[in-house]
Amino acid sequence: MFKINENYLKLPGSYLFSTIAKKVNAYQAEHPDCKIIRLGIGDVTQPLAPAIITALHDAVEEMGDARTFHGYAPDLGYEFLRKAIAQNDYSDRGCDIQPDEIFVSDGAKCDSGNIQEIFSVDNKIAVCDPVYPVYVDTNVMAGRTGTYDPKTETWSDVIYMPCTAENGFAPQLPDETPDLIYLCFPNNPTGATITKAQLQEWVDYANRVGAVIIYDAAYEAYISEADVPHSIYECEGARTCAIELRSFSKNAGFTGVRLGFTVVPKDLKCGEVSLHSLWARRHGTKYNGAPYIVQKAGEAVYSAEGKEQLKKQVAYYMNNAKVIYHGLKDAGYTVSGGVNAPYIWLKTPDGMDSWAFFDFLLEKGNVVGTPGSGFGPSGEGYFRLTAFGSYENTVEAIERIKKL
Ligand SMILES: Cc1ncc(COP(=O)(O)O)c(C=O)c1O
Repeated sequence: MFKINENYLKLPGSYLFSTIAKKVNAYQAEHPDCKIIRLGIGDVTQPLAPAIITALHDAVEEMGDARTFHGYAPDLGYEFLRKAIAQNDYSDRGCDIQPDEIFVSDGAKCDSGNIQEIFSVDNKIAVCDPVYPVYVDTNVMAGRTGTYDPKTETWSDVIYMPCTAENGFAPQLPDETPDLIYLCFPNNPTGATITKAQLQEWVDYANRVGAVIIYDAAYEAYISEADVPHSIYECEGARTCAIELRSFSKNAGFTGVRLGFTVVPKDLKCGEVSLHSLWARRHGTKYNGAPYIVQKAGEAVYSAEGKEQLKKQVAYYMNNAKVIYHGLKDAGYTVSGGVNAPYIWLKTPDGMDSWAFFDFLLEKGNVVGTPGSGFGPSGEGYFRLTAFGSYENTVEAIERIKKL
């Protein structure tokens, strides 16, 4: 008789966004005439930039001609894309990352979930609290997190690093030494960032204690302040302790197109074993590459035209962020984020818990956001709004919230 992976049974409840969707659908079914504005899920709304559409069309034409047809992609991804990434995202920022240290994938969600596979099940992970749920859930599936305590909503073998108003939503170095440290800046859900000096402390710490930092920089394009690092490799010593995850979803609107990459420097080793070779083995065995068409679209992100168009797209969303941030502040809310990230993190009013505020906002304002508690216990009493809606909807949502 076969057996299942019982770790899956340990996962509590349903995925946060499924619960939200169910609640919103039920409300809409009961109130078919009301216009619900969704500022909940972190999905983009603007169409793909013209430079990307042109690249997609051209690549489709190539696929229709035997002379330019492409089958399976090379294991690490096409060199034209890895070279563009190495140049623009790393070399131009003074980071020493070579094209053959870049693994092209279909997005950061898969990579952030899969990367734990190359580490021992005995490793202890440290995560920020609140946190993007994928890091913990995939470690649960792998059997790395111990037992779940529904009262505290925490796992016995996970080190939680609270990110609260008191510490500016930036984690402190943990008391207990972790083996794997998940960091994400600019942060989902709080919209907070850390400075280069703060990130350098983490790099120094990881090198000192022999830990690996898994650095999720999916929101790097939203950074507006000069002292905020775009990549962990801007820090000295990161090549021996850090893996970086990147996505084309938020900087270029690829949430439905699917493209991302992971950087594993060749200097990152466990004894004599290079993590680069383990990830290469994993990538080559379990993955057959992002489509040629999509990788060509990714290349267009780095063209002069593409860069210009995407700068405007990011500015469009960040203008929404401003509308949300200042609108809520004027209405008396305590807000943070929204300066280097498309997320605004607000304290729920009158001591309401996160889900009570979700219901209140849905029912009284017909606006959907995300309860902070869905991202971890320290998110209780907070709420996330995203800047990824249209400008018109964002303005209307804030007007409605102001009137509550
Ligand atoms: C922190 C973080 N990492 C990764 C992802 C997923 O990115 P992708 O669309 O590339 O899978 C998200 C998506 O919301 C995210 O918030």
